[in-house]
Amino acid sequence: MQIINDPAQMQKTAESLRLRHQLIAVVMTMGALHEGHLGLLKIAREKAGTVILTIFVNPRQFGPDEDFHRYPRPFEKDAAMAKAAGVDYLFAPDADSMYSEGFQTQVNTGDVANRFEGEKRPGHFNGMATVVLKLLMISKAHIAIFGEKDAQQLAVIKRMVRDFNIGTRIIEIPIVRNEDGLATSSRNIYLSSQERQQATVLYQGILRARELVAQGMIETEKILEEVTAVIRSAPDATIDYTGIVDADSFAETDILHPNTLYRLLLAVWIGSTRLIDNGILEPLEQNTVPDA
Ligand code: PAJ
Repeated sequence: MQIINDPAQMQKTAESLRLRHQLIAVVMTMGALHEGHLGLLKIAREKAGTVILTIFVNPRQFGPDEDFHRYPRPFEKDAAMAKAAGVDYLFAPDADSMYSEGFQTQVNTGDVANRFEGEKRPGHFNGMATVVLKLLMISKAHIAIFGEKDAQQLAVIKRMVRDFNIGTRIIEIPIVRNEDGLATSSRNIYLSSQERQQATVLYQGILRARELVAQGMIETEKILEEVTAVIRSAPDATIDYTGIVDADSFAETDILHPNTLYRLLLAVWIGSTRLIDNGILEPLEQNTVPDA
């Protein structure tokens, strides 16, 4: 595995791989690698001859009061994990080389980025989309692999790829969870052991919503009320938002219609740690809107 820090060198390397007809897959991360990231790398390894892993804690997608400075950066451990996962190139630039003097252009995301994470974290999606676009240009990847853990991020990226005619194929991977249901995340290390136990309420909320939908409930307000009650059973949980959206457009809906996929979205503070999670809701064929 080769470690590259300089964006120009990474881009040159990618160009020569392309000239040699190598298929390139990229997995983009902010490091502190865990099972979720390894799941993405496994698919990358299966799909392409060359795997590029990027590790970059992108300052432009953090708000002023967010955890940019304390975000974990265990680089040596990450590099060892990357090597064991079969990564060919580990691209780890610093912020000055990614945003050199005079940098001023950024991606302006649209409707899909407006609500939920976009509303709660102003500027987050523009900063995220900008770095993803840069990393696509630098890695020259044919395939890029992202996790459903950040479902709205994925929807924003897919929209950008279509809108800008980016040739990269986007592949999405289901959420990797711990045994008790908590989605793996670099931020889970912030949780105390008590908070770690309480953090399972997010997944329990998703399971409750699925149970209600399976029983025929179609009013999203009612479903969200029940999900809220499950989450509030944890004493240190504070809900940032809950929502149910069309899985593709991220448009909100009052009623679940059959033959449509929806996504339950959750952002919850457990103590001072903000966790996000989501799950697909699939109304049954017979869950139809009652006649007036
Ligand atoms: P990061 O949070 O490190 O996540 C990197 C990738 O791993 C994303 O595609 C994310 O959805 C995926 N991922 C994280 N946890 C996962 C889990 N439990 N199961 C499945 N996939 C999971 O997302 C970012 O970094 C950044 O915003 C980035 C795209 C790198 C741009 O800076």
